Amino acid sequence: MKRALAAAAVSLLALGSVAWLASPVQADTSVQADTPPSSYNGLALTPPMGFNDWNAYHCNVSASLIEQTALAMHNNGMQAAGYDHVNIDDCWMLGRDIPRTDPTRATAGRSADGHLIPDPTYFPPSAPGLTDGIKLVADYVHSLGMKLGIYEDTGTATCQGLAGTYAGNHGQTYDAIDAADYAAWGVDYLKDDWCNVPLADVPGATRNDKAAYLYTQMSQALQATGRPIVFEAATLGDPGLSTYTWAPAISNLWRTTGDISANFSSMLRNFTTNSALTQYAGPGHWNDPDMLEIGTGNATTLAAPVSPGDTTVKVASVSGAVVGSALRLGTTANGDLEGGVIASVGTAGADGTGITLADPVTLAHPAGEDVGKSGLTLTEARTEQTLWAEEAAPLIAGTNVIDIAPQNLAVYNNHEVIGVDQDSLGVQAAVVSSANGQWIMNKPLSDGAHSVVVFNANSTPWTDATVSLDALGLDPSQRYISRDLWAHSDTTVTDSIDVGTIPAHGSVIVKVSSAANLLTDQVALVGNANGGSFADQLQQAIDAVNAGETTDACGILGGYVNHVQAQSGKQLTTELADQLLTNAQQIRTLIGC
Ligand code: GLA
Repeated sequence: MKRALAAAAVSLLALGSVAWLASPVQADTSVQADTPPSSYNGLALTPPMGFNDWNAYHCNVSASLIEQTALAMHNNGMQAAGYDHVNIDDCWMLGRDIPRTDPTRATAGRSADGHLIPDPTYFPPSAPGLTDGIKLVADYVHSLGMKLGIYEDTGTATCQGLAGTYAGNHGQTYDAIDAADYAAWGVDYLKDDWCNVPLADVPGATRNDKAAYLYTQMSQALQATGRPIVFEAATLGDPGLSTYTWAPAISNLWRTTGDISANFSSMLRNFTTNSALTQYAGPGHWNDPDMLEIGTGNATTLAAPVSPGDTTVKVASVSGAVVGSALRLGTTANGDLEGGVIASVGTAGADGTGITLADPVTLAHPAGEDVGKSGLTLTEARTEQTLWAEEAAPLIAGTNVIDIAPQNLAVYNNHEVIGVDQDSLGVQAAVVSSANGQWIMNKPLSDGAHSVVVFNANSTPWTDATVSLDALGLDPSQRYISRDLWAHSDTTVTDSIDVGTIPAHGSVIVKVSSAANLLTDQVALVGNANGGSFADQLQQAIDAVNAGETTDACGILGGYVNHVQAQSGKQLTTELADQLLTNAQQIRTLIGC
């Protein structure tokens, strides 16, 4: 199948940059019936992570916004946590300042010779008349070790009415030219949207055929450039399509839902739809329930100055302020960025009762300064991150990450939850049960452990939530470690996991590991140290545990512990040795040594 795609791609290239417009290109859509390959282009073996500007800024995107965002992510721990893509959404091409009623809005962004023109006002070129504005941003983003994403649309115009890739007639597109330009600019990711497609003109019997036709063409055009470019078929969860039947073979991810917005019911809707599509996701080809809305919400300004020690914040507008969410005060640029959790919401204006915070602010803020509201409470924010990780969804932050409340940043940067999303096995969680808004999900991980999510979609608490090990396919007579990935704490469990009370809209995510799973993690941690002798000992212990030979396993582990102690500060750093010893003690207890 790969060869067929590559051959088609080469023939596209051979058509040249303009000559192909004369005749419709026949895309090979026969790939759809096959089992999806791991990754059609070898990319996105774990779900993509990063940022996209749309949900926070809409059409107000610019080179400076993208560069400041990349720098903020470089400095605030997001890049280190894995958020390495900075994605430009709609409105980067010339035309966004032309009124929507003016038909030239859709044509201004493409030159007479068929090339897209970045808007020079917002993406300034290196010299007047050049069109290298995106390339300059890509160069900057790459200099930070990050990647740049871009946006286009399969139709005649983007969802905001700007130049799209559909050229007409009868299936002709600008895909080859656009793909070559993206590659030349250094683009690493394309989100290809699904608006304004003149379906009657596109080859194919059904709406689904037509979508497969158009996206396959762009997929091939990207392949033909030779540059690794992650490809997203952003079909918006169009109910007239079954994108997941063809997209896994020609793209790295596809949208399974309509647009998310910054409130719990929107997030729940997207999650619910996405959770029914488990079997289509895997390494290199992912379901995308849309962006993370952690920190996203309305903006306002301070109606009166705020002083250290104040708990009341007077704001110009309280609209969209949610009790339990993090309020962002100040900015990175002003050096007074901080966040507070909203305890109550009163009235707006300098004479209003304002927003009350749970704890006093620590910095001074002048009247008129920016304030950011979050549409999700912190409980809901953790739930979104949890559910997206459990579903191996792309983790794309749709918020202002330059000025983000530390409470929201901490939700994005929880390494243990990210670890579940990025697990190399690449399995989207199965829904174990979901009756009455009480969800239990189970995701197998590469070390043999399971990530288990218990989620309360209701607006009342779920008391005495338990998950039987049986329901997870685990042996209820064995002992397991259940690690809470938000609390970062371990409990030993047999028979069932007792989660206790889950608040409204809350969730718990635990990693359930057997002794053999934990030993497998030890192997990964110790690697090939001392010629692989530690790993050999651990493997013997795993074999003994799997064979039920507890006494042998305990003996082997005793020897391993002595070996680690002897090599602490020598073959092993003392830090690593200490960690291995702590883990080994936990495993010995679990086995009952
Ligand atoms: C669609 C997409 C959004 C965004 C806008 C831009 O609605 O689903 O994510 O890209 O278009 O116009």
